[in-house]
Amino acid sequence: MMTNRFAESVVVDPRQAWAWQRAGGAGASNDIDAWRRELAECAQVGGWQSHELGPVLGQSLPLLRKGHARAGAPRLLIASGFHGEEPAGPWGVIEFMRTLPEALADQVDLSLLPLVNATGFAAGTRFNAQGENPNRGYGIHANGDQPSIEGSLLIAEVERLLPLAADGLLTCHEDVGLSHTYAYTYERGPDPGPFSRMLVATAAAHFDLHPDGVVDECPISDGLVYNRFDGSFECWFSEQGVPLAACIETPGQHDFTRRVRAQAALMRAFIEHVAARAVCR
Ligand code: NI
Repeated sequence: MMTNRFAESVVVDPRQAWAWQRAGGAGASNDIDAWRRELAECAQVGGWQSHELGPVLGQSLPLLRKGHARAGAPRLLIASGFHGEEPAGPWGVIEFMRTLPEALADQVDLSLLPLVNATGFAAGTRFNAQGENPNRGYGIHANGDQPSIEGSLLIAEVERLLPLAADGLLTCHEDVGLSHTYAYTYERGPDPGPFSRMLVATAAAHFDLHPDGVVDECPISDGLVYNRFDGSFECWFSEQGVPLAACIETPGQHDFTRRVRAQAALMRAFIEHVAARAVCR
């Protein structure tokens, strides 16, 4: 839908395969065996506990928990890899884990869903191997969309997952057709607050912000699509009371390594922001 002259063309065939080369000849962005190996190494070094929510379509769906959080620490969840053509999220999770200072990790009770749609990731396709969209069909705003098989699993695990995001949720996406960055954010007030502004400012340190106008059929202003109730995973957690929720979008038209770095920086900024507020209150 092109309703604004500033809208960029965004037409992604959900069956089209996308892949990029990782830095230093490390291989292709959709090498799922390499991704799982590096995740396991990081989890071991960082003292993360791994729980298996799958298998889904024959693939692992891990939930990672950073152990030994102090009592009362803010509970935060980062979820990535809903769409298979957006690989900077799952690789960004690994970069984030590798570079997370222990002193910061100790201030929060952190959980990760590093790769929701593994069959899409391996194929480089937006949807899963059954042609389903893993980021639709959630909650009261599902609007008739049925959840994917991964979504059904996350819905079945809601009693376990929702408390892990009691103080905030970050979901990590990309927009392969774009050269600008933006974010969807959810807060309780009528206007975006410091959380939303912080995320966009962090993203803007890595890429130009999307112009005001329309993105993905949504009004966008200052790089933000605010409180968009679309049946996404982040929308669903917001409607269940998670006070701060956001979906970040890095632009697929830029260098892959730069996108991975931006994803990791946004994850770091998310927990720094909530940790700093928890100290203040
Ligand atoms: Ni996405």
